[in-house]
Amino acid sequence: MTDTFLADIVAGLTRIPKTLPSMYFYNKAGSKLFQTIMQLPEYYLTKSEYEILDTQSAAIYDDFNPQNTFEIVEFGAGDGSKTKLLLQEFLKKTNDFVYSPIDISKSALKGLVKSYEEAIPTLNMNPINNDYFSALDSLRDNNTTKLVLFMGSNIGNFKDEGEVDFLKKMRANISEGDHALIGFDLKKDPQIIRDAYNDNSGVTREFNLNLLRRINEELGANFDISSFSHYPTYNPITGDATSYLISMKDQQVSIGDRVFEFKYAEPIFMEISKKYSEDNIAELAERTGFEIVNNYFDCKHYFVDSLWRAQ
Ligand code: TRP
Repeated sequence: MTDTFLADIVAGLTRIPKTLPSMYFYNKAGSKLFQTIMQLPEYYLTKSEYEILDTQSAAIYDDFNPQNTFEIVEFGAGDGSKTKLLLQEFLKKTNDFVYSPIDISKSALKGLVKSYEEAIPTLNMNPINNDYFSALDSLRDNNTTKLVLFMGSNIGNFKDEGEVDFLKKMRANISEGDHALIGFDLKKDPQIIRDAYNDNSGVTREFNLNLLRRINEELGANFDISSFSHYPTYNPITGDATSYLISMKDQQVSIGDRVFEFKYAEPIFMEISKKYSEDNIAELAERTGFEIVNNYFDCKHYFVDSLWRAQ
């Protein structure tokens, strides 16, 4: 793990513009900070999707309409607080399925397993601690009917249309008639989106800076955390909510025997969180080999869980 972590960080900081891979946000402290973000008043995403799953899980089951044993594979399951609502509803109809949560964060996955064992002991679980791309292969291992979950707004975190690539690979690893339930954060009043990524209490700022802290702790780097400032943006045309850390002075940072130069005002690209229109979603389904079965919205139409069927 440390070897790939180091290689990925070095590769990111060598690139122009510099970038740090956001999948590394989620160490123990990062996962905790993200749990705090999910409870922030400004961070509407979790609340909107919670409402969708709280009120429409039975409809999702009926639309999925499994005829035999099936497997639910969830990419980026996190702490599982929302998916629990869906699984509880499914268990009212059948327990003839296995739930395979995949997450890069060991601590989040551990928390999920513990809370599910207590809350829904009848659930059959097969947890997988891995990143998305490595986990894609596990979809091919058996030809059980599948429902792939890609919730939250995880789909929005790919760069350069990486979601097209990911969904095509996912499609290639499942069978016609299998389903995917994908969470999309919708384009809306840009101010609402800006606030969600720039909360008043500064937790999102800490969440971004935490990755520098992690690099210091695990890779022995010497980032001076106080000389980086958090700069979130939103582009209402592309739908990209992008977070940067900006170097507030000329400085050098060393990781082992490597030295990285930062100029005053130089950005590090941290994360993209893409927002979609309904047309964007329809086009994405079409391009990647799926048809939309149904869209489930929250009452404010901030967010949608979109059920797709592999064509
Ligand atoms: N990736 C999640 C999202 O798109 C989590 C997140 C919330 C996040 N705030 C962030 C990621 C700020 C990076 C920076 O909403």
